[in-house]
Amino acid sequence: MTKEEIAAYISDIKNANIESFKDKAADVEAFRVKYLGKKGIIVELFNQFKTLPNDQKKEMGQLLNQLKVAAQDKVEEFKNYVEENHELDVAHDLTMPADFAQLGSRHVLSVVMNEIIDIFSRIGFTVAESVEIEDDWHLFSALNFPPDHPARDMQDTFFVEKEEGRQEVALRTHTSSVQVRVMENNKPPIRIIAPGRVFRNEAISARAHCIFHQVEALYVDKKVTFADLKQTLLYFAKEMFGEQTQIRLRPSYFPFTEPSAEMDISCNICGGKGCNICKGTGWLEILGCGMVDPNVLESCGIDSKEYTGFALGMGVERMAMLKYQIRDLRLYFENDLRFLKQFDAIV
Ligand code: DAH
Repeated sequence: MTKEEIAAYISDIKNANIESFKDKAADVEAFRVKYLGKKGIIVELFNQFKTLPNDQKKEMGQLLNQLKVAAQDKVEEFKNYVEENHELDVAHDLTMPADFAQLGSRHVLSVVMNEIIDIFSRIGFTVAESVEIEDDWHLFSALNFPPDHPARDMQDTFFVEKEEGRQEVALRTHTSSVQVRVMENNKPPIRIIAPGRVFRNEAISARAHCIFHQVEALYVDKKVTFADLKQTLLYFAKEMFGEQTQIRLRPSYFPFTEPSAEMDISCNICGGKGCNICKGTGWLEILGCGMVDPNVLESCGIDSKEYTGFALGMGVERMAMLKYQIRDLRLYFENDLRFLKQFDAIV
């Protein structure tokens, strides 16, 4: 054993590079065994060390220790590397647990929208969809809005730039426009549900947004009555908010329905006793509805003497708010994972 021999080992160790190893984990182990194994180079050198004359022991002892530390440090460095880059070796260890795959989840608005669609489809309604950029006829005129109705006002409607000689075009402000398109293109009986995005020129706040979602339902046939509407509403409310749910109808006004009503449900938070969600009234406003105005049927080419119908429309954001006690509309659109993940379990 010579000083040069030990120095050569030390420099070999220091220069060893894991990049040159083919099978990283196995080659690191071979490297360890070669230097630090029970029959390895270092044990062998220490054995020889015992036989050295005493005057050489100090210097050689120090060198041998340097060699040992260098080998230990290198093995440590290699092991860390293998651990950090373990995927390189996954193929060799079939017992390793699989990486956890993060599952996505549906957005709460899709969950609620699908639930509404599902409830109506169970009583024979099919989904109808239509355009988000609509003309004045389908948005307002065919729905019996008088020419000076405030909903046509610039404050509510996003108008798309008007082209010469063409009628006014806008982002749809409600899904009631789908009613018109369906009635124009189909003969009764008509039983549709129209989910979709709508747009209104509103300042964004906890209670209002310029983009939101509605679901519209329309039923046109011979002898459809207000009693059919009422029973459909009761069925929907119980399916959506629970068997104990009660409904009440308040007279209201919409240009496209006559008579018109707004439906409240008994507050599902306090059970009707009164709380801060229902503002102490025990009731929550849920949707607008009514019997399709004969003018609307006629505008769409349906004989109002032969057919009657009911329609209803609801806001999906509001449904989700009431169902999951969400207090700020903006949460739906911010895509904060902490919010979205709470609905992980809901398919
Ligand atoms: N279109 C109405 C809105 O956006 C909602 C509505 C009310 C729809 C009554 C209807 C209805 O079909 O009958 O506020």
